[in-house]
Amino acid sequence: MKAALAGRTVVLGVSGSIAAYKAVELLRLLVKDGADVYVVMSENAGRFIQPLTFEALSGHPVAVEVFDTAETASMEHVRQAERADCLIVAPATAGTLGKLACGLTGDALANFFIAYGGPTIIAPAMNDGMYAHPAVRENIARLKSRGAHFVDPEEGELACGRVGPGRLAEPADILAAARAVLQPVRDLEGLHFLVTAGPTREPIDPVRYLSNPSSGKMGYAIAAQAARRGAEVTLVSGPTALEPPEGVRFLPCLRAEEMHALVQENFAGCDVLVMTAAVGDFAVETVEKEKIKKNGDAPLVLTLKPTRDILKEVAQKKTHQFVVGFAAETENLIDSAKEKLRKKNLDLIVGNDISAPGIGFQSDSNQVVVVDRAGRADPWPLLPKSRIAGLLLDRILEARRA
Ligand SMILES: Cc1cc2nc3c(=O)[nH]c(=O)nc-3n(C[C@H](O)[C@H](O)[C@H](O)COP(=O)(O)O)c2cc1C
Repeated sequence: MKAALAGRTVVLGVSGSIAAYKAVELLRLLVKDGADVYVVMSENAGRFIQPLTFEALSGHPVAVEVFDTAETASMEHVRQAERADCLIVAPATAGTLGKLACGLTGDALANFFIAYGGPTIIAPAMNDGMYAHPAVRENIARLKSRGAHFVDPEEGELACGRVGPGRLAEPADILAAARAVLQPVRDLEGLHFLVTAGPTREPIDPVRYLSNPSSGKMGYAIAAQAARRGAEVTLVSGPTALEPPEGVRFLPCLRAEEMHALVQENFAGCDVLVMTAAVGDFAVETVEKEKIKKNGDAPLVLTLKPTRDILKEVAQKKTHQFVVGFAAETENLIDSAKEKLRKKNLDLIVGNDISAPGIGFQSDSNQVVVVDRAGRADPWPLLPKSRIAGLLLDRILEARRA
């Protein structure tokens, strides 16, 4: 039988609990299940267990120190591990939960968590009093609201001699949680998703162009997760620095006109269109064949013509397709999103306020409002784009069934 986690990369984060020794058993189970495991430790975890144990069992250097230059090699591994499929923090102490919930850095585990942003499983371990403390409860609630999965501690005799909830869950149960996260349900099987992503690029002359700072991260995350959940996915992408996701039919393009043609060609055969691309609204009317020369202080005047509205045109042709648009706005977010949904005959629109700092275009996180045809507007909290992608796919499925 094929190992359940074959081909998956897992980062195991260990913090300073008496239960740290159980992380060794968890590591062994993960490796046995086929996962490639990297271990990242909080500084205090090293007081309970030696990195060497994890190094020997995982076959990779272990990240412990943040500032130790001799660890450049393990930092390189940390960078590779940032592309991991899942982070498991087990055991998670009260202190580490606080650091993760508040986004504090300072040790290798907390730093890794901030840089990572992917699916995370947290298995707390502490005494019952600490576990019941409002600060710990709030930190757990905060992490849950951002999508972290928790494997709750068990009741029983604790290391301090007391009896209550706080004992780290059994490694086999944490492994089961990892399997559930890493083998997502294939609930999109039989559906064809057409996803657009990235900016478009309108040439001015052979060396200059008009574009925008869209990174493509949102669309790539949606395409990757839809494919993982069993959908057939076509990704039409403007120029980005991202690798095309695995298992996706990838159609690159530059100009809005090219993106328009690719979407038109593929629309009839799709079930769901998700337009995350930041398509330029204007293109230069006459593209110069030669590089435009600077003429002293004389201004350069370019005439721009509007590009075709891809979303509006395809949405008018829709038969059975479910069409999702994105609206990047700088004011009146919800009203503008509702207006766009109506005008463009969309089924769902995801609005985000790009004037707010730290979210939107280049960022790994976003804060969006999802508006449906009934005019219901759901504001979602600030979330990693990977999490927004998963929730949006759930929402599309739910709306299609309704
Ligand atoms: C013997 C011993 C066992 C401990 N076990 C736990 C524990 O299970 N859970 C916890 O939250 N803290 C525990 N602590 C306290 C943490 O080690 C301490 O709060 C530390 O600062 C946590 O650091 P870290 O979260 O960065 O690893 C223990 C401390 C000692 C000395």
